[in-house]
This record gives sequence, C-alpha cells and structure tokens, in this order.
Amino acid sequence: FNLDQFIGGIPKAELHLHIEGSLEPELMFELARRNKVAIPFASVEDVRAAYRFSNLQDFLDIYYAGAQVLQTEQDFHDLAAAYFARARSDGVRHAEIFFDPQTHTDRGIPFDVVIEGLLSGMAAVEGVSSKLILSFLRHLDEEAAFATWGQAEKWLDRIAGVGLDSSELGHPPSKFARVFAAAGEAGLKRVAHAGEEGPPAYVYEALDLLHVDRIDHGNRALEDPALVERLAQSGMTLTVCPLSNLKLCVVGDLADHPIDRMLDLGLNATVNSDDPAYFGGYVAENYRAVAIARNLGKAQIVQLARNSFTGSFLSEAEIAAHL
Ligand code: HPA
Ligand code: ZN
Repeated sequence: FNLDQFIGGIPKAELHLHIEGSLEPELMFELARRNKVAIPFASVEDVRAAYRFSNLQDFLDIYYAGAQVLQTEQDFHDLAAAYFARARSDGVRHAEIFFDPQTHTDRGIPFDVVIEGLLSGMAAVEGVSSKLILSFLRHLDEEAAFATWGQAEKWLDRIAGVGLDSSELGHPPSKFARVFAAAGEAGLKRVAHAGEEGPPAYVYEALDLLHVDRIDHGNRALEDPALVERLAQSGMTLTVCPLSNLKLCVVGDLADHPIDRMLDLGLNATVNSDDPAYFGGYVAENYRAVAIARNLGKAQIVQLARNSFTGSFLSEAEIAAHL
C-alpha cells in the first residue's frame, strides 16, 4: 500500500507542538528584516546547518534565539497561520499547541500581543480546530510562573490548559506544583514534559504533584515497569515525538524508537512533531519516518491516529465525530 497516502489521508490530531518551534528559517529571515532585528545567520542554509543538536539544551539555546524575531501581533499571527496551513496539508484536523509566553514577555513583548496574534492566526485557517496550551518555562522560578499565570487570567476562556517545558534536568515538576494547582482550580487541563531527558521520578511527580492529563514525551517511563503499568491502567496519553527524539539524541537511531513497544505495552502513545522547523518534519513526516524505521503496519498507524483524538481535550461528542 502507499504509506504516504495512507498517513496523509488518515485524520490526525497534533497534541505536542510548540508554536515557536514551527518558525521556519524563511519566516525567521522575513521577520528579522521586517522588525530590523539582527540574527546571527547569513542565509537560510546557514540557519539549517546550525540545527545539529546533541541534547535538549543545545536545541533550546537556538530555539530561544530564533524566537527573538517575533515582535508584533502580526508576527504571531503569521507564525500560527503558517503552522495551521502546513498542518492541514498533512491531514491534521485538530491541534493543541503550546506557546511559551515567558520567552516573549521577558523581552518586553506584552502577553496580550502574543496571545492575540496567535488566536487570530489559529482562526485564519479553516478545517483545523485548535486549542492553546500555556507552557511555563521550567528553568525559570515559581514566582515567574505565577507572574505569567496572572497575565493569563483574563484569557482563561481562550486557554485550554497549562504545560511545562524547557530544560528538564534539574527542574523537576515539583517546582511548579502550586501554579499547576491554581490552573486546576481554574478548570484548566494540565500537561507536562516529563521523561524526555528526566528520570522516571519526574514522570511520577507530574502525575502525583501536577495531576497531569497527559505526559509530553514520557520515553524514560519505559525504564520503570511499575510506572508503565500505572500509565497503561490509567489510560494516560503520551505525546511522543519521533524526529525530536532523534535530533535531541533521546534515541540514537530511529530504528530503536520505542513507539511500537509503547503500543504493545498498552500505552496510549501518539505521534507529534514538537518543533518541526528545527527537527526536520511536520506530523505526517514523523509518522512516515517512524513507520518506516519500525516497520509499522496499518493497524498501528490507525491506533496512533485514533489515540491522538482520544487523548485530545475535545469533548466526547467532538472526538466521536473524528473517529
Ligand atoms: N522539550 C522541552 N522543552 C521544549 C521542547 C522539548 O522538546 N521543545 C520546545 N521546548
Ligand atoms: Zn516539546
């Protein structure tokens, strides 16, 4: 059968996508010019050549530098509209996207500018529904997270959930238990990156202290059979990102990627692109690359796509309409 056609045609949801990570080098250059911001690259090729990472922090340094070109509401609109157009062409019907407000407010860009631009960009593309997840930067402190939470308060009807991203090692979920409790009390969903580079203990903390509804990545949970059992029994969704795992050396080779092992263990794994402009592929390419590397069959691809809807924050009726 034609794998590309099959993957492109099957309805999918994307649950792990950092909108700042969808900033393509071409748009980076356009915004640098538009905003008269200097960037340390001579050409688009020069930018792509710099995208060789040996761990998460290597990537984050370049990712935060790239985000500096984003300044105006129009920039955030253009960024989101470009992602949604691209996602639609991959057969994505629904996307729940992260944004990192602190990356922008720390440079003096108002929270409202960021979110208004993103919301209008999300609405500009028909055929893909969307939700927004406000992600706290875990390398910053709890006080900074609460300050961001305060700025978000008037937007809570437009924000589906909170997340936790950036440098994982040394920044355990426990650091953010109180701000996640506040988000839970406000009725928001909760997710956290855990077990990408961090140990299984961080996944336990995300479950027990942050009360998350999904685990982002979760790869290292596989080191702990009791944790795997708990994740499987509770039907926890893992938002797995194969090309990200490869580029950030979470796996040495895609041929060793655990996506099918996760399914075999009864885990609700999904396939996502994380930061597609930096990792070399949008969601269909992630399905394609891991399907080839792991020799996945149709049934496994169908299961992954199905999990993306059942793990989403859509209502039961909306989910049913997609399946
Ligand atoms: N991990 C942690 N933080 C991030 C990532 C990631 O994969 N992408 C963007 N911020
Ligand atoms: Zn991520």
